[in-house]
Amino acid sequence: MAVGKISEGSVYYDKPSKINNFLSRKRMKPIKVGLLGLGTVGYGAFRVLARNQEEIQRRAGRCIDVTKVAVRNVERAGKLVDGVCEVTDNPLNVVMDPEIDIVVETIGGDDPTLELVLKAIDNGKHVVTANKALLAVHGNEIFTAARKANVMVAFEAAVAGGIPIIKALREGLTANRIQWIAGIINGTTNFILSEMREKGLDFDVALQDAQRLGYAEADPTFDIEGVDAAHKATIMSAIAFGVPVQFNKAYVEGISKLSSIDIKYAEELGYRIKLLGITRRTDIGIELRVHPTLILAKRLIANVEGVMNAVLVHGDAVGATMYYGKGAGAEPTASAVIADIVDITRLHTADQENRVPYLAFQHDALSSMPVLPIEQIRTSYYLRLRVADQTGVLAEITRILANQNISIDALLQKESREGEPQTDIIILTHETQEKFINSAISCIEALDTVFSQVTRIRMETLS
Ligand code: HSE
Repeated sequence: MAVGKISEGSVYYDKPSKINNFLSRKRMKPIKVGLLGLGTVGYGAFRVLARNQEEIQRRAGRCIDVTKVAVRNVERAGKLVDGVCEVTDNPLNVVMDPEIDIVVETIGGDDPTLELVLKAIDNGKHVVTANKALLAVHGNEIFTAARKANVMVAFEAAVAGGIPIIKALREGLTANRIQWIAGIINGTTNFILSEMREKGLDFDVALQDAQRLGYAEADPTFDIEGVDAAHKATIMSAIAFGVPVQFNKAYVEGISKLSSIDIKYAEELGYRIKLLGITRRTDIGIELRVHPTLILAKRLIANVEGVMNAVLVHGDAVGATMYYGKGAGAEPTASAVIADIVDITRLHTADQENRVPYLAFQHDALSSMPVLPIEQIRTSYYLRLRVADQTGVLAEITRILANQNISIDALLQKESREGEPQTDIIILTHETQEKFINSAISCIEALDTVFSQVTRIRMETLS
C-alpha cells in the first residue's frame, strides 16, 4: 500500500517504499479496540480512525483495529459500522473480551459506566474515556484499580474536547511549578454569555437560542449551573498540583442567575463576564472554583466567544500559556480520544514506572494540600447595589467596606432617572478574602437605603 507522495507543492514527503519498509519492519500485532457507545463521540472516533488510518499507523507504529462495539441500538450501529467490526448490545462482551487491548468508554454518566470501566480494568484492559463526571467523582478509585491491574487510563477528551490540555499539563509543562489555571471550559455557557453580550439578550432567551442550535441539551442543568466546568476544573487541578480528584470540594456557581444588566455595566467598565473554571495554588491550600467572572476585555481569553474553549495555564518557569480550540463535537473529541489510543499503543509494553502517571505526579508523591472553602479564597469583586439617591448613602457603604479592610478600585454611579429616587451603584474592589466581602454585603444589605440584594461577581486579573 502506497503511503504519502514524493512531493506536493513545497511539502516534502518520504518515498512510499521507505514508509512501507518502516511499517513492515514494525509489522506487529494490531492493537484491538472495543468501543462502549457509538454516539457522537464513539462514532466520531470510529470515523476518524478509519479516515486517517494510514497516518495514525505511521505514528503509532502498528495498526489500530476497532474489533467490537457495544451499543443499545444494534441495528443502527450495524449500519454505521457497515460490517467493519462486530456489534453487540452487551457491554460485557467488550470489557470481558480477551482479544481486546483498549476499551474506549463513550457512554457518559456513571451508571453503569463506573462498573464497566472497573470491570475492563480488572480484565487487564487499558481504558480511554471522555467522561469527566466519572473521573472527577470516581477518579481516585479508578486510578487505584488501574495501578493494581497495571493498565493505563487516558482521558484527554474529558477536558476541553479537542484541546490537548491534559497532555500539556502532564507532559509539556512538567518542568513547572504550576501556579494557576483559568479556563473557559464549557462551550454552552460561553455561547449563552456571548449572545447575552452581543445581542443584549436575557439569559432565558439566550438559553433557548442555544437549545435551538443544538449547543444546549434539553436539560441544560449541568452546563448552565457550572457542574460540567467544575468536573473539568477538578481534573485539571489534580494534574496541575498533584492532588487527588476532589469534586466534592469544588465551589460551583453557574450563569443562570446572571443578569444582562451586569454584562452591560461590566462592558462599560472595560470588562467581560465569562464562566471560568479556576484552580490556584496558595500558601494555605488550593482554590478550586467555577463561577461567572469579570475579566478585563483586553485579555485574550475575554475575547473567546461562542462555543469555543480556552485554557490559560501559568507556570513559574514558562509564565502564562494559553490553549484554544473546540471543546466539544464529534471530531474534535475524537481527535483527543485517538491521541490517547495512540499514546497507549506506544506505551503499553512499558513498565508502570516508565509510563506517564495518571495524575502527572507519581502515585506515592501525591500531596494532601487541602482544597480551600470558598470563604478563604482571595480575589476582587464587582458589586451592584440599588440604593436611595440621597445624601450620605455612598458614605455609609464605603465605611462598611473600609471596616472590613476592603479597598475600592473603581466606582460608578448611574444617573437616576427623572422622578425616580433610586439608582444603581457599581463598586469594583481590590483583592480581599471572600469572608470579608460576605460580611460587608450583609451589613450593606441591612441598610434602609439599600434596596434588594447586592449582586456580587468575582473578578480575576489573570496577570
Ligand atoms: N457540554 C459541554 C460544553 C461539552 O458545552 O462545553 C461536553 O463537556
